[in-house]
Amino acid sequence: MTQHASTILMTGATGFLGQFLLRDLLLRGRRIVAILRAPPASAAERLAGMMQRLGFDVGPYVASGQLLLEHGSLPDELPPPRWGRTDEILSCAASLQLFSNGNGEPFRTNALGAEALIEWAKAHGVGRLHAVSTAYVCGCYKDRIGEVFHLRPPDFQTEYEFSKWLAEDHFARWGREPGHVLTILRPSFLIGDSRTGYTCQFGGFYQFARLVSLLRDQHADGGNGHGTFIPLRIPGREHDPIQNLVPIDFAARMVTEVVCNPSLQGRIYHLTDPRPPTWTDFKQWLEEYFNIYGGRFVDCDELSADRTPAESLLWEKYDLLMPRIHHHIRFDQANSLDVMRRLGITFPSLTRQRMFTLLDYAASQNWGARSKPGANGANGRAAAGRR
Ligand SMILES: NC(=O)c1ccc[n+]([C@@H]2O[C@H](COP(=O)([O-])OP(=O)(O)OC[C@H]3O[C@@H](n4cnc5c(N)ncnc54)[C@H](OP(=O)(O)O)[C@@H]3O)[C@@H](O)[C@H]2O)c1
Repeated sequence: MTQHASTILMTGATGFLGQFLLRDLLLRGRRIVAILRAPPASAAERLAGMMQRLGFDVGPYVASGQLLLEHGSLPDELPPPRWGRTDEILSCAASLQLFSNGNGEPFRTNALGAEALIEWAKAHGVGRLHAVSTAYVCGCYKDRIGEVFHLRPPDFQTEYEFSKWLAEDHFARWGREPGHVLTILRPSFLIGDSRTGYTCQFGGFYQFARLVSLLRDQHADGGNGHGTFIPLRIPGREHDPIQNLVPIDFAARMVTEVVCNPSLQGRIYHLTDPRPPTWTDFKQWLEEYFNIYGGRFVDCDELSADRTPAESLLWEKYDLLMPRIHHHIRFDQANSLDVMRRLGITFPSLTRQRMFTLLDYAASQNWGARSKPGANGANGRAAAGRR
């Protein structure tokens, strides 16, 4: 078998971030043992299909033994190391379920899963662990958030955030033991590829854009060539930054660089937008994209009653956005900026053009409802987007 730099046990390879990381780490020569959930055959097929959509054929890597597909699941079904020595663990699996609904998630996969991975690392002598967390483990703090472990915050906006905080807490205890090197990578909200728009997740930013497209469809008057007027109050301050959004290609590049370079490990990284656009930019771009106008910013309290149907559609259906509008967080990025400076990586800022690329792709996939994702290709024309 070919000699590879090191062997990484990876969870979450079939996820949005995981597929980009799998591709990039294989291209960098790492031997990856990917833990796939049951049923094993269809998981492997699913993985191959999603990698194909990224333009990447995993076949040769499986054939050469550089990529091993192992059945397993968190927290209680991690396989014994049949493949030999494991040098590092990349923890990228998670349940993104925001609140408990009786199935044990998100705590089962995220918190118990972290404990299980640590037990596995201890049992098999693994000394390096890279854990993908979230920038929002900071909970409801309002100040500048450092790239440090946080004391348990007074509150979290979601149980998902709490479960990820618990995971970090478990990892941190392991990281304090001698001979262990722990790296925590904390992206904010992931959005599509900044160059192609490709995404396989259509929550958050995309849901919001889809609601704007629904509003436009409800109010459009048959395409008379003019923009559609939709009077709408927008709860927020026009010069405030929008919620922190991070293109997947940037997050994947940063994680890959850190995983491939031991001198960058042992730190916490905020993978966040250093200068998010303002609400004014965001509003202008959405209005231009959907050819609508009529929105105006108001104080958050002004919207508490007497909402128009248009306002209800946007703000009630998207109620999770509301706390985020009130709750601005500034993420310190000293560690990330240091890596970016050293490696010449620039952040793909959300510009009008990039936003249109993201929206074009999402619209071409019918905002996630299309049965065969990627059917139109990464540069497919918007089917239901621009007017
Ligand atoms: N997406 C975001 O906006 C965002 C933002 C900040 C941080 N993050 C973090 O980034 C990481 C990757 O997120 P993502 O967006 O790529 O998530 P995703 O697309 O939902 O993928 C989740 C991955 O975890 C696997 N998984 C889920 N539960 C599992 C379990 N019990 N045992 C084993 N594997 C399990 C899934 O496998 P299946 O394919 O079998 O379901 C999938 O591979 C996570 O740690 C997440 O917390 C994500």
